[in-house]
Amino acid sequence: MPCLRLPRLALLLLPALFASFGAHAGTVAHVDSPGKVLRVELDLSEGRLAYRVLRLGEPVIDDSRLGFRLREGGTLERNLSLVSTDTASADTTWEQPWGENRFVRDRHQELRARFAETIAPHRRFDIVVRVFDDGLGFRYEFPEQPGLARATIDDELTEFAVHAPATAWWIPAGEWNRYEYLYQRTPLDAVTQAHTPMTVRTADGLHIAFHEAALVDYAGMWLRRAEGQRFRAQLAPASEGWKVRRTLPFATPWRTLQIADSAAALYAASDITLNLNAPNRLGDVGWFKPAKYVGIWWSLHLEQESWATGRKHGATTANTKRYIDFAAEHGFRGVLVEGWNPGWDGQWFGNGYDFDFTRATPDFDIEALSAYAASRGVHLIGHHETGCAVSHYEDQMEAAFALDARLGIDVVKTGYVCDAGQIERRDANGDIVREWHDGQWNANHHLRVLEAAARHRVAINSHEPIKDTGLRRTYPNWVSREGARGMEYAAWARPTNPPEHEANLVFTRMLSGPMDYTPGILSLQGRGQPIQTTLAKQLALYVVIYSPVQMAADLPENYEKHLDALRFIEDVPADWAQTRVVDGEVGDFVTFARKDRASEDWYLGSVTDEQGRVLQVPLSFLEPGRRYTAQRYRDGDGAHWRDNPTAFVREERDVTSADTLTLKLAPGGGEAIRFVAH
Ligand code: NOJ
Ligand code: CA
Repeated sequence: MPCLRLPRLALLLLPALFASFGAHAGTVAHVDSPGKVLRVELDLSEGRLAYRVLRLGEPVIDDSRLGFRLREGGTLERNLSLVSTDTASADTTWEQPWGENRFVRDRHQELRARFAETIAPHRRFDIVVRVFDDGLGFRYEFPEQPGLARATIDDELTEFAVHAPATAWWIPAGEWNRYEYLYQRTPLDAVTQAHTPMTVRTADGLHIAFHEAALVDYAGMWLRRAEGQRFRAQLAPASEGWKVRRTLPFATPWRTLQIADSAAALYAASDITLNLNAPNRLGDVGWFKPAKYVGIWWSLHLEQESWATGRKHGATTANTKRYIDFAAEHGFRGVLVEGWNPGWDGQWFGNGYDFDFTRATPDFDIEALSAYAASRGVHLIGHHETGCAVSHYEDQMEAAFALDARLGIDVVKTGYVCDAGQIERRDANGDIVREWHDGQWNANHHLRVLEAAARHRVAINSHEPIKDTGLRRTYPNWVSREGARGMEYAAWARPTNPPEHEANLVFTRMLSGPMDYTPGILSLQGRGQPIQTTLAKQLALYVVIYSPVQMAADLPENYEKHLDALRFIEDVPADWAQTRVVDGEVGDFVTFARKDRASEDWYLGSVTDEQGRVLQVPLSFLEPGRRYTAQRYRDGDGAHWRDNPTAFVREERDVTSADTLTLKLAPGGGEAIRFVAH
C-alpha cells in the first residue's frame, strides 16, 4: 500500500484556503483571470493532483486528474506535494505579419506550481497555468533534475471533465482518414475518441472548445472519453511503442480551453492559441505576400485532367500558360500546378518513392513558365506531394526549396496522402518504420520543413497535415493547411460536404487557424454530383473561411461564365486588419465582418446550413460617420442549393454604420458584401 497522507504544505495552507475560497478541502493554489471571469484551482487530495475550472463562480470543469505514465520510475500521479508557487501577470499587444487581426492582445494571469513526489524517485514537475478571461492553457514543465535525464511517456493522464450536460461537435481521432471526417453533433457522453478542437455547448449555453497550443516535439493529443463527460488525453502513437520521448528539461504543449457564452465569442477566444505560442523566430517575413491563387487542381479532382503524364496530363507548358494568363488578367498572384514533377504515373497514394521534387516532367518547361509568370506579375506555386515517403522527401527538401526560390516560387503546397499511421520514415538502422500524421516524429518533421523552407524564403501550405496549434506565430511561413474536409470532397466524396459543413468548420477546425479550403466553385458541379451550396455562398466563403493563401478553385472557363460573381473574388483580400464574428450558432450559420489590411474597406460573409434564414445585421462595425458603398452579392429570390443554386443578385447601395441590413440567406445559401469606403 502506498502511504496516503496529505502533503505537509497543503495541510499548513488549509485554514487560509477555507477562509478565502474554500469549498474544496484539497485546493492548494488558484489563479483568476484578469477580469475575474475564470478561475483555475489546483487540488491535491491524498497526494493526487487535479485541476478544476470555474466561470463566474460556477463549475465548468470538475476535478480532472493530471499526470503521466512514464517508463522512468512508473506512473507519476500519486504521492505529490506542492513545493512552491509563483504568479505573474501579462498585458501586451503584438503584431502579426499577416492574419485575421493585425494586433493581438495577450492579457492573462499566470500561476506556476511546483510539485515533487514525497517518496522515491522524488521526480519533480511544474504545472504552469495561464488564464485569460475567455480561456486558459496549462502545461507541464519538467525541470532538469537528478535521476531523470529523459522522459519516456507511455501516456499522458490529463483529464477534462465537463460539469454540465453538453452537446459536442467532433470528428473521430485515430481513424484512417486523419482529420477528414464530417463533423458529428452528439451528446458529449456519446463521443468516443475525438480530435481537437472539439467544441462543446452546455445545456445553459456555455461554449467550450478543447485544443492544444505549441505542439512541438510531442505527440498530438486526442480526447478519449473515459466515462460520462470525463475525457482523457490520448497521445498519438509512435513506432517505438511509447508516445513521446524527451530529454529534460522540456515542456509539453499547452492544453487549452476556450470558454465563452456565445459561438461568436468562442471564435474570438482563439487568440489564446496564438498567445500561448512563442514569438516569431524567423525574423522579417515580409517576403510572404498573402494572396489569392488559381491552379491546375479542380480539373484533376474532376478527372478531366490527370496528375499522371500522358494524354490527359494537366501540368503541361501550354495549359499552365493558360492559367498564368487567366491569373494575370484577373489579378491572382499565384498559380498552383499539381503533377508537374516525376512520380505521378503509378500508384502514388501512400507510395511516394518515385517523387522527384527537383525536376519537372518533360512536357512542363518549368524554367520558361516561371520566367513567363514573372513577366506577367504572377508566381508559380509549388507542389510537393510526398505520398507519405517522408524521409525520401526530407532527402530532397533543401534542393527542392533552392530550386523553388530560384524560380520565384515562394509558396509550396505539401501533401501527405496515405492512411493515418502510414507516414514512412527511415530509422537509425535504415529500416522504414511507420508513424502517425500527428505523432511526435511527424510533428518534428513539419518543423524541419518550415525551417528548410524559411532558409529559402518559401511559405508552406500543408495538406494532410498535423493539426494547427498556433505555430504560425513562431514560424510565420506556415501559412495555411488542410486538416479537414475541403472542397475536393464536394467533387468526389459520397457523402459529399452537406450544407451545414462550413457552419460546423468555423466553430471547430477554424478555431485552430487558417484553412486552405479552396472555395469559389461557381460552376457548382462536382464529378457527377451537385455542390450543396448556392453561388452566393461560394463567394461568402472567402470571408468566412480564413486563409492568407486563398484559392479561386474553379476552372478558368467556368469563371468566364460568371464574371459578375468573379468580381467579388477578385476584390476580396486574403489579409485582414480586424475580424469580427457578428453572429452565429455552431453548425447553423455564421456572419463575419473583416476589415481589409490594405484599405479602409470592410467585407462581410454570411453562410447558413440547409435552413434558409433572415438575419438583421447592424453595420456598427463600420467607421462611424463614414459613407460606404455596399456591393452585395446575395441569393436571388427562390434560390436553393438543391434546385436553384445560381439564382443570384449583385446590387449596390450606400450605407453608414447606423444602418442595418437584412440578409435573406437561401437554404444552403449565403451572402458576400464589399463595403467600399468613401
Ligand atoms: C490531397 C490534397 O488535399 C489535394 O488538394 C491534392 O490535390 C491531392 N492530395 C494530391 O496531392
Ligand atoms: Ca486532402
